[in-house]
Amino acid sequence: MIPRFKPNFNYEEIISLINNKKDAIKTFEEKFAYLVNSKYAITFPSGRFGLYALIKSLKIHDEIIIPGFTCIVVPASIVASNCKPVFVDISLENFNIRTNEIKSVFSEKTKAVIPTHMYGYPADIKTIRNIVGEDTYIIEDAAQAILTKDVGKFGDAVFYSFNFEKQLFTFGGGMVTTNNEEIYKKLMDFKINFLPKTKSNNNLNKTISLLYTKLIFSDILFDFFSRTWDANALRIWRKNKWEFDNIDLPLKEIYLSSDFNNTFLRVQAAVGISQLDKIKNDIKKRYEIAKIYNDKLKNLESINLPLVSDDCSYAHYTIMVNNRDKFEGFMRKKGIQINKVFEYSIPHVPYFSHFVKDKDLFRNTYTASKNNVNLPVYPQLFDKPHKITKIINNIKKYFEK
Ligand SMILES: Cc1ncc(COP(=O)(O)O)c(C=O)c1O
Repeated sequence: MIPRFKPNFNYEEIISLINNKKDAIKTFEEKFAYLVNSKYAITFPSGRFGLYALIKSLKIHDEIIIPGFTCIVVPASIVASNCKPVFVDISLENFNIRTNEIKSVFSEKTKAVIPTHMYGYPADIKTIRNIVGEDTYIIEDAAQAILTKDVGKFGDAVFYSFNFEKQLFTFGGGMVTTNNEEIYKKLMDFKINFLPKTKSNNNLNKTISLLYTKLIFSDILFDFFSRTWDANALRIWRKNKWEFDNIDLPLKEIYLSSDFNNTFLRVQAAVGISQLDKIKNDIKKRYEIAKIYNDKLKNLESINLPLVSDDCSYAHYTIMVNNRDKFEGFMRKKGIQINKVFEYSIPHVPYFSHFVKDKDLFRNTYTASKNNVNLPVYPQLFDKPHKITKIINNIKKYFEK
């Protein structure tokens, strides 16, 4: 099975993990800040916890504008911090928030905007800044956008994720960067005073998980592991009788649970340092794969191809098709795993729809949630051209029928 994603985790990471140094976290933060051209970088247990820490430490109350199409943990973190999400539709060109529509929902109550750099495409933060002015926080969601063009240049802070499917992988983990000293100090204060401290066995547990990475993401076993994870998540939802229709969902318990707020550990930082050495090259490879797909698939009428631009860091390569599940089933039978990021339109998710006056305003969000499907674009594929050819040939076979 060609998996849908695969961390570039090799012997360098294992050696770095085993030789992890006492000051690994500080070194990782400094190197990351340098890479993304930021003054400060602070590790967090996850991207969502970085976002939660920002909302809490900046004492943001009231309304926060976000795109309708993003990861569900974003509105969940907003609601869990007693703020109100205000949704804006997206563009189908780059799947990012429609900047012009921000004006129509912006009000005195708006305290922040959190644009997502979806799939690695740069959201137009400069224009958003012009619309909302200097007194409204802009927190950039770069969970999928390490080294996307201009990330961090016009926003107040940026959060990143090192979870599965991301360009940099430390088996969970996140980072917040900022150029603003005051924000940095407030965040550090929050991190020191409100995050749980590492238990002595955490480094060992994480080391074992990290050592298993190669096995989990092997072409043979990944399908099994990902199905097991999904089944386990479903089991927990069923056991707790959680339903999206339920207005009293315990969002903190679900999305900001202990899995996501264990301290970011030294062993993770050691792996992150190794990953940083190759990330520029990895992103170039992602871009090259995107170019190949666009070139070879351009004559297929039933597919909408994405923009190819070297401003994008291609956490995902996403095409739009009708009847996506059938296509996914066909590819799976051919030994190729493709997936949906994301398969929901947040304004249509019952829990969040009570924040929305008119769901019809979210046509593009809805379309993306129903038609988008991601092809494998992980960098190691670039060195296995026969696998890229296999993916392309099967797509052609399916759509030329
Ligand atoms: C766009 C987006 N925002 C936020 C997050 C949350 O990151 P994490 O899983 O590290 O909390 C993700 C992760 O999937 C994401 O894709």
